[in-house]
Amino acid sequence: MLPYFPFQQQFNERPGTLPLKPADALIEVDAHYEAEIALKNSLLTHDNPSDRSGAGQAVPGYYFQASPGTEAAQWDVLEAVLTDLSRHRPDQFNLQKDGNQWHWQNHRLGLSQTFTFGASGTLPSGSVQEGNNVPDAPLAPLDWVGRQVQDDLLILDGPDATLVAGQLCFGNGWSLDEKIGLPFTAIHAPINPIVPPMMQAAQTIMARLPVGKPLWRLNWSLKASDQLDMTTHRMPDLNAQLANLLPTLTAANAGEHLFIRIERQTLTRLPRSGAILFGIRTYLNRLADECRARPDAAPRLLAVLETTPPAMLDYKGIRPFLDVTLAWLNRLGRG
Ligand code: HEM
Repeated sequence: MLPYFPFQQQFNERPGTLPLKPADALIEVDAHYEAEIALKNSLLTHDNPSDRSGAGQAVPGYYFQASPGTEAAQWDVLEAVLTDLSRHRPDQFNLQKDGNQWHWQNHRLGLSQTFTFGASGTLPSGSVQEGNNVPDAPLAPLDWVGRQVQDDLLILDGPDATLVAGQLCFGNGWSLDEKIGLPFTAIHAPINPIVPPMMQAAQTIMARLPVGKPLWRLNWSLKASDQLDMTTHRMPDLNAQLANLLPTLTAANAGEHLFIRIERQTLTRLPRSGAILFGIRTYLNRLADECRARPDAAPRLLAVLETTPPAMLDYKGIRPFLDVTLAWLNRLGRG
């Protein structure tokens, strides 16, 4: 069952941000942790479209990018993430600080690592992370800490909240290549005309986000695949899979072939650099399984899908299977 189900009586036209309470973890960890970290490492190391050498080494470019001058913000992110993990999951993660000498234990991955906070070059390399001792360049702080969590981690900075760095392995239809260097408004160019009040409000939220008062919100979609990595270069394959599936979808079987994809997004103003950490944690479940586990899922999904603006359904890529999905949900009943 999904940990969140952001479907109420109708499509939500507001940003839907809520304060993250002190008892709530910034970073969530679940049973898929090891598998998702392994997938991230594999994407970052072997499956990088920028890797033209064929040597299988991570070439910064597709899944991780950082603009010059973002080092302080990256260390800020590392501190926020490690502190949160060790506070909320002390049985699994431990951070000890001796001045700037930090010792990190990640019992889930069997890692025990010492580094100097703020000193580039003291973090391990990607290959050591994988248990391979071939010497390699130390990872950038954001790239290293991104491999400790299931979330995608993005950094926005400046008055226009410009995307300046990110590790994005599980992006939903976008990639760093397309958005790095763009301010918040330009990042959302395809969305702004669909839900203008929501995006204007979101811009104000970004500009006014105070230190120590993180926010979170949920985003949702329906997909014909449960693949986590839906970054742009995966889209031709995913579109081909969808084209093959569409003729076979019926009001009797759609729920078995479609997946609900939820993003738990967090926004945190970083104390030293003043930049913003945007975390995206992706959860997936088969539509039929979610409806079996959650008796009110079908009526809630129907209520939202029937009130979602047509342009938003087009944007989310739901239109090709909307009718068959509504028919499948209606067979389950409106509750
Ligand atoms: C309050 C904050 C935010 C709100 C309300 C918001 C809202 C949205 C919405 C409604 C969409 C359409 C996707 C969908 O509904 O399936 C979207 C897409 C997207 N958002 Fe946000 N967002 C926020 C913060 C951010 C931040 C901080 C980033 C930073 C990278 C970001 C990056 C994106 C990207 C890259 C897309 C896809 C755009 C495309 O297809 O070209 N969002 N956002």
